[in-house]
Amino acid sequence: MLLGVNIDHVATLRQARYAGEPTAAVPEPSVTDAARAAMQGGADSITLHVREDRRHMQEEDALAVRREIPLPLNLEMGATESMLDVACRVLPDYACLVPERRQEVTTEGGLDVASRREELGELVTALTAQKVCVSMFIDPDAEQVEASAAVGAPMVELHTGRFANTAGSEHGQELKRLIAAADLAHSLGLEVHAGHGIRLSHIPEVMRIPHLTELNIGHTLISRAVFVGLSQAVREMKQALEQSQ
Ligand code: PXP
Repeated sequence: MLLGVNIDHVATLRQARYAGEPTAAVPEPSVTDAARAAMQGGADSITLHVREDRRHMQEEDALAVRREIPLPLNLEMGATESMLDVACRVLPDYACLVPERRQEVTTEGGLDVASRREELGELVTALTAQKVCVSMFIDPDAEQVEASAAVGAPMVELHTGRFANTAGSEHGQELKRLIAAADLAHSLGLEVHAGHGIRLSHIPEVMRIPHLTELNIGHTLISRAVFVGLSQAVREMKQALEQSQ
């Protein structure tokens, strides 16, 4: 199981102090140093999200990580023309299309591919022409999986947010939905990734989802990094993945 490390919240911390006023200080923490630390801990790829509102990562961060870090880069992006322009400048290995105005971590859903087929199909074609491999960040619904395959995306990232944020029977149901969606995606020839809200304690259950090749994890790793450093936080997650295989 590959581990993609999302380092957005390193930029969140930097922006908390350094967004806005020009300063003579070197803004910290450094996003490229964080990517390097994640790589040293065993990250298989680096994910960052240049949001429309630039609340954490800036385009320059993506360009710097692309230039300096010898790991595959996964750019999360809203499905818009302006973000397509950014992707064409950054030229990541992967682009994960996500919903645009995601404010609430717990209530947000995946991208509604089924109702935006034409527009998303064009984006997939444009990114593919740049040799960027596209994934769709979707809820674990059959309709969304089928639509992702229909618009020509080679990969899906299944949204594990509800799984991560529920307990009891709802949590069990959500795991079943993820398993069914992964099976369907695989049967349609899609590569299957998953992410959002995943913590160390979820790993044994997450490993029951079939055909998964990569997990994308951010917040919990950056949180743990406050106490043990990012390399160690990533190392612990990699070990948990290896032990659950
Ligand atoms: N995958 C996608 C598409 C995301 O948007 C995010 C959060 O930015 C993640 C994975 C990682 O989620 P978390 O930070 O909760 O681990």
